[in-house]
Amino acid sequence: MADMSMISKRSPRTGRGAAVAARHEEEGTDDEWLMYLEPAKLEVFDHLEPWAEANVVPLLKPAEVAWQPTDLLPDLASLGADGFHAACFDISARAAGLPDAHLVCLVGNMVTEEALPTYQSIPNRFEAVRDLTGSSGTAWARWIRGWSAEENRHGDVLNKYLFLSGRVDMRQVERTIHNLIQSGMVMNAARSPYHGFIYVAFQERATSISHGNTARRAKEYGDVALARICGAIAADEKRHELAYTRIVGKLFEIDPDGAVRALAYMMRRRIVMPASLMTDGRDGDLFAHYAAVAQQAGIYTASDYRSILEHLIKQWGVEELAAAELSDDGRRARDYVCALPQKIRRLEEKAHERSGQKAQPATSAPFSWIFDKPVNNTMG
Ligand SMILES: [Fe+2]
Ligand SMILES: [Fe+2]
Repeated sequence: MADMSMISKRSPRTGRGAAVAARHEEEGTDDEWLMYLEPAKLEVFDHLEPWAEANVVPLLKPAEVAWQPTDLLPDLASLGADGFHAACFDISARAAGLPDAHLVCLVGNMVTEEALPTYQSIPNRFEAVRDLTGSSGTAWARWIRGWSAEENRHGDVLNKYLFLSGRVDMRQVERTIHNLIQSGMVMNAARSPYHGFIYVAFQERATSISHGNTARRAKEYGDVALARICGAIAADEKRHELAYTRIVGKLFEIDPDGAVRALAYMMRRRIVMPASLMTDGRDGDLFAHYAAVAQQAGIYTASDYRSILEHLIKQWGVEELAAAELSDDGRRARDYVCALPQKIRRLEEKAHERSGQKAQPATSAPFSWIFDKPVNNTMG
């Protein structure tokens, strides 16, 4: 792609050309991330391997001590037939009290988790850290496999819970998972470990918030089994967030200019949710409808997106980065990232004002996941 970054905003170009030039000045060129694939940048990860061994790998929980789906669900072998049926009845009886919107959020979260094959392939696309053999002994490769093994329990336990709840059209849910794995995901700068670890740090915090809110609401609705399940998942996500935030924090420490420019690159293009390509074969806008319900129900909202960014800016000390340790592009990146939460906040306030001035028309969409029942997704 041509380097448009040198074209000034005061360029005499007009119309589409000017708009493209302005966008490039604002966002940097799309292929700027390629410089992160140069040997000098990738060698950082070889040097960091002993550090990862001491600071990242220990954040995994071995199978012997980690919770397993069976710990959180009725088990026929240990309960016997009568006990098992009573426990299954209890699950469906409590699930009967869950609002449809809550179920939609839960299914959306479960479908997202079930597309794990796609997520295991994410860090295996990052140069310098990927698992080159499938059973590599490097700290990075063992982390990737251990993390994937922990993630595997999330979709598993939610899938079994929803199966037992009797509230969802499992075939439609399974079809959505099938489609999502087949479609893959949208991710910028996918081969750069700098950009990739930033993306995953953001995502782990987002999932932790989303599962945490689902747990809290489930408890309010009287479904203690579901609250325990989502709480256990949220705790895992928090630990994963810690690992990825730690890795990126280390990059900020040893290469602040590279790290802050990668962060700005990702934020300028927005962090797209990993399940954005989901489809059930019926609703052409399924992800947008699910996201709107999650926003409405307070499970994952625009202010969560902003608060995650604020948190990461603090964690990585972005505001404190000294001008002397940054290039011109690095300084621009730092200033852009630090001003972004305020920009998002202003947009939130404007949207809030608009909805306060004029009642928003009620909108809803039917979800095949819950037998085509419509669920309210009015924004406001
Ligand atoms: Fe997960
Ligand atoms: Fe996770």
